[in-house]
Amino acid sequence: MPQSKITIIGAGNVGASLAQQILAQRLGDVVLLDIDGDLARGKAFDLNQSGPVLGYSGCVLGTSDYPDTAGSEIIVITSGSPRKPGMSRDDLLKINFEIIRTVTNKAVAVSPEAMIIVVTNPLDAMTYTALKVSGFPKHRVAGMAGILDSSRLRHFIAEELKVSAQAVEAMVLGGHGDEMVPCLPLTRMAGVPVAKLLSSEKLEKIITRTRHGGGEIVKLLRSGSAYYAPAASAAGMVAAVLRDEKAVMPCAAWLMGEYGHKDVFLGVPVILGRRGVERIVEIELEQKDEQALRRSAEAVRELCHQIDGWL
Ligand code: NAI
Ligand code: 2OP
Repeated sequence: MPQSKITIIGAGNVGASLAQQILAQRLGDVVLLDIDGDLARGKAFDLNQSGPVLGYSGCVLGTSDYPDTAGSEIIVITSGSPRKPGMSRDDLLKINFEIIRTVTNKAVAVSPEAMIIVVTNPLDAMTYTALKVSGFPKHRVAGMAGILDSSRLRHFIAEELKVSAQAVEAMVLGGHGDEMVPCLPLTRMAGVPVAKLLSSEKLEKIITRTRHGGGEIVKLLRSGSAYYAPAASAAGMVAAVLRDEKAVMPCAAWLMGEYGHKDVFLGVPVILGRRGVERIVEIELEQKDEQALRRSAEAVRELCHQIDGWL
């Protein structure tokens, strides 16, 4: 059977780690594209040379040429510019908007049937850009953040309860920013809501740490941001689509009235399968979480209004 073809745009920390995950999980062959073709080729050679030792069956092609990506089933966009000293969030929004606009246009021209998964920040606004520029139907464009934020929350809870993270389920909804919404009623250990297991002070600290989980790592790394957990989270989405898993995962999805929001990307639980975002799962939220989701949607909309002026 031919291997699935997955294009990763951006051969930086997240892109290269994602390529490694895709090979390790035998999800398919990878085209790793970067504006810096040598960087992409160098990382591809390195990944391929680990195959004989680790038993990878797929291979990676490093390139800066879009024709190499033709016919991809999935396009994961990780290309972006980091924030530099003196640069405002708005400056970064414009720079990354231009990058996402360029790469989306070029990638979809040769892979018109692909599913797009966006990783680049600001996540929800960049996913909006990819939807608008590609003209793809909404079920074929999604953003990765909720899986990562939920995984961080699961890890912190498991650490506190001294249990396996596998025993902890959690759902962080909303945009990928300070306004994200960790839903406590949906955060459980072996089915028991964590509010029954941990004090409200401990839970408050864990929620704050989850909200700032990315920033905590940025500070420690000094240059760059997290990439192992982000790559694992994106690989989870790729696997769900290619294996038609119908997995329920929190992803940035285009809302058409679900959760009371319309025409906005927000992190919500979705069913991910071969058709992409096959359905949005609506869970009844507590009033407090509903209000938090509204604030989060407002923050995302503000960025998207700016983008509308550039499209
Ligand atoms: P990185 O700086 O290591 O890699 C970015 C790569 O994009 C670089 O290799 C660069 O050459 C490439 N690039 C820039 N412009 C390009 C263009 N026009 N065409 C092709 N390639 C281009 O950054 P890293 O750590 O891999 O992060 C990538 C993005 O993902 C950032 O925006 C980061 O904030 C975001 N991120 C999002 C997460 C989420 O939860 N959604 C989690 C982690 C990172
Ligand atoms: C993170 O949450 C930087 O968005 C990235 O680690």
